[in-house]
Amino acid sequence: MRFHVLTLFPEAFRIITEYSIIGRAVERGLISVEATDIRQFTTDRHGTADDYQFGGGPGMVMKPEPVFAAVDAALANIQTEERERTPIALTSPQGHVLNQQLVDEFAAAPGVVIICGHYAGVDERIRTGLITHEVSIGDYVLTGGELAAMVIIDAVSRFVPDVVGSEENVRDDSITSGLLQHPLYTRPAAFRGMAAPEVLRSGNHAEIERWRRRQSLERTLKLRPDLLATAALTNSDRAYLASLGWDGGDV
Ligand code: ADE
Repeated sequence: MRFHVLTLFPEAFRIITEYSIIGRAVERGLISVEATDIRQFTTDRHGTADDYQFGGGPGMVMKPEPVFAAVDAALANIQTEERERTPIALTSPQGHVLNQQLVDEFAAAPGVVIICGHYAGVDERIRTGLITHEVSIGDYVLTGGELAAMVIIDAVSRFVPDVVGSEENVRDDSITSGLLQHPLYTRPAAFRGMAAPEVLRSGNHAEIERWRRRQSLERTLKLRPDLLATAALTNSDRAYLASLGWDGGDV
């Protein structure tokens, strides 16, 4: 999986490429994160990547020429068939809010180009004539798109084979499975008067699975009942949820 990031701050990406799970994935060649400075594609001697907006108003706008040129360069060495399957994403608070479905879509691509938005916004022609996706990481405004790009890279990389220890774990996680995760405990069994549930130390795997499933259902009902509408639920899940007062999601 190749991530091509087009940014005004390429050094910022060292935070993800040099540490922890994503850092190891880069080191092992499972993913690559190539952060390119958009200013490299400016044509004036000041490296101007932004300009005043037509019609007046506060805030600078990212110019189209360097961004188009940077995308062309990022795609230049990729074969046509792969290029056509490579999403070109712009990070922006106006975008589609990132969710698991979009993460899966990106993870199935050979690579992703991510343009980090900045200033007041980008020239509209970047939106209408260049990108395939506009992605927000939530309904709040960041000072720039770099952190959003890192969030996308991190979330997508987890689904690249071998990046995370076990594929099964990745799919079992909160949200991905459609439900929130059950509580986790480790040693010590008793801590400041709080005991780890007896069942988890019983060695009875069927009971442990049952307890975990019920905890997941309970937690999801309490914190994210909206997820239950699309989660894969068995009849016994439904019966358990009904016993907790779930109305089946009827509105
Ligand atoms: N740039 C500024 N705010 C953003 C957000 N919420 N998501 C993605 N990119 C952004």
